Amino acid sequence: MSSDATRVVHAGLPAPAQGEPFLPGPTFAAPYHLTGDPSSSPFGYQRDANPTWQRYEAALGALEGAEAVLFASGMAAVSAVVLALGPGDVLVAPADGYPGIRALGREHLAPRGVEVRLVPTDEAAVRAALGGATLVWLETPSNPGLDVVPIASLAEAAHAVGAALAVDNTLATALGQRPLDLGADLVVTSCSKALSGHSDLVLGVVTTRAGERAAALREWRSRAGAIPGPFEAWLAHRSLATLDVRLERAGANALALAELLATRDDVSGVRHPGRPGDPGHATAAAQMTRFGSVVGFALPDADRAQAFLARSELVTEATSFGGLHTTAERRARWGTDAVPEGFIRLSAGIEAAEDLLADVTRALDAVR
Ligand SMILES: Cc1ncc(COP(=O)(O)O)c(C=O)c1O
Repeated sequence: MSSDATRVVHAGLPAPAQGEPFLPGPTFAAPYHLTGDPSSSPFGYQRDANPTWQRYEAALGALEGAEAVLFASGMAAVSAVVLALGPGDVLVAPADGYPGIRALGREHLAPRGVEVRLVPTDEAAVRAALGGATLVWLETPSNPGLDVVPIASLAEAAHAVGAALAVDNTLATALGQRPLDLGADLVVTSCSKALSGHSDLVLGVVTTRAGERAAALREWRSRAGAIPGPFEAWLAHRSLATLDVRLERAGANALALAELLATRDDVSGVRHPGRPGDPGHATAAAQMTRFGSVVGFALPDADRAQAFLARSELVTEATSFGGLHTTAERRARWGTDAVPEGFIRLSAGIEAAEDLLADVTRALDAVR
């Protein structure tokens, strides 16, 4: 199956069987029936294995030609990768990406003797920090700044110093960008965003082509107990079939909104990697096939940004991104990102473009 649109519809489904559903329902269990020799069954206890997770993992693995290990959240997936580091290891991580990894570095890695080097999402800055690195972590496009770095050349540079490369691919998903094909060793994706896309669950996944890494991650999952719930895994698998059409519509809406915002004199700093005028566009176009639903822009101050969010009828104020509904937030409200007070991160949903453009125009005009 060559096309992503086709693969997401069929990925991870069992072979058709008379009278059976397309996607079997979730299996809920703590222990499974298990008599005699434990090796006689793949399922003994739910913290180790569950058929519903395994179907979704098979689907996600098929999208990337890799093994997928599913976790209870994106942060559980991030933790599974970075908490494997120990004394003397050096982690190079984004200073301007999702703040969760910085908090883990500060609160859990540095105290156990891991050196954490925080660098902006910028190729030269990452290269300058590579000496002695054990693990290089990229988030591209970065959240919330939407900066982009070239994965292939940084994979080469990381490998040249003996470091592994992990890429947080949450914003793009496997249909927008394939870091493993570009040389990454590990890909981490929060399924809570576009990958599942319905704003109704939290899950995370690590994909890798190195069998021993996948085995170690599964082992860690059992030990740490950071396991996904079967119902969430089933919902996420069901939602995967529409990923291609959701990304198509949301991406087109994001681009249309970015183009509109870029024409306005009351808006500054418009970012969307798919917009030809964007500073990251050339790099993004070289390694991404879809550019995601997220648009960044700034209004002059916090009050104007909040007033815009209050005036809009279709842009729902919420954190996160990648859902069916258009959402936005004034990102500085969390105090975790170095962004202007009036900076808004908007995630385009799958509503009709003309309705979104009209609503955003009306709300911006009302607060001008
Ligand atoms: C880029 C990125 N990575 C990881 C995460 C963490 O994912 P989760 O919320 O599923 O734990 C997020 C969540 O916002 C994110 O935006």
